[in-house]
Amino acid sequence: MAKRGSRKTAAKKRSGAKRATDRASSTRTKGRSTKRAGAKPSGRKTARRKNAARAVATRSARKRPTPEPSKLASAATAVKGAVAGAVEAVAKRLPWTSSEPDAVTLLETDHRRLEDLLKKGEETTERAVKGRTQLLHTLTSELTVHELIEEKILYPALRAHPEAKDIVLEGYQEHHVADLIVKELHTVHKDDEQWGAKFKVLKENIEHHIKEEEGEMFRTARGVFSREDLHQLGVRMATMKAEVQRGRSRPT
Ligand SMILES: [Fe+2]
Ligand SMILES: [Fe+2]
Repeated sequence: MAKRGSRKTAAKKRSGAKRATDRASSTRTKGRSTKRAGAKPSGRKTARRKNAARAVATRSARKRPTPEPSKLASAATAVKGAVAGAVEAVAKRLPWTSSEPDAVTLLETDHRRLEDLLKKGEETTERAVKGRTQLLHTLTSELTVHELIEEKILYPALRAHPEAKDIVLEGYQEHHVADLIVKELHTVHKDDEQWGAKFKVLKENIEHHIKEEEGEMFRTARGVFSREDLHQLGVRMATMKAEVQRGRSRPT
C-alpha cells in the first residue's frame, strides 16, 4: 500500500511538472513573437509612419514665422547706406569725377580743334591760296567764338577770385595779340612768303596761350569752382556759342 501511494504521488508530481513546463514554453513562445513584431514592423505600417512624419514636418514648416533680419544684417545695411551717401557727397565736391561736360572740358575740346587747324595751316604752301583762305576763315570764326565765351563767361567769374586775377589779365592780352595777327593774316596775300611766317607766329602764340590756360588757369578754376558751378558755366558757354553760330549761319 505504501508503494502504491508513493507511485500515485510520483505520478502527480510528474503531471504538475509537465504543466509547468508547458506554461513556461507557451510564455517563451509568446514573448518571442512579441519581440519579433516590435523589431520588424510590416512595410505598410512603416510607410504610414513616414507619411505621418512628413505631414507633421510640412505643417510645422508652414507655421514657422518668417525670420526677422538679424541685428548684424541690419547694421550692415545701415553702414552700406551711410557709405553710399558719403561717396555721393564727396563726388559732388570733385568736379573731375563728373560725367557731364563742364566749362573746362568744353574749352579743352575747343583747344584741340584750334590746335588741329593751326597744324593744318602751318603745313600749307604758297600755292595753296584757296586752301589758306578757307582755313583762315574757319580758324578766325572758331577762335573768335572761343575767345568770346572765355572773355564773357569764364574770365569774369574767375577774376573774382584773387588767386586767378593775374592769369586772367594775361589771358585777355594774349587774346588781343592773337587777334592782331589774325587780322594781319587776312590782309597779307596767301601766296606771299610773309603769310607762312606770320601764321607760324600765330600758331606759337595760341599754343603758348592754351598751355597757360590748361595749366595754371584751369587748375585754379577747378579749385575755386564746385562741380555745379563749372556745369552752370559750361551750359552758359554752350548756349552763347550756339547763338553766335546760329547768327552767323542766318542769311543776311
Ligand atoms: Fe583763351
Ligand atoms: Fe582757351
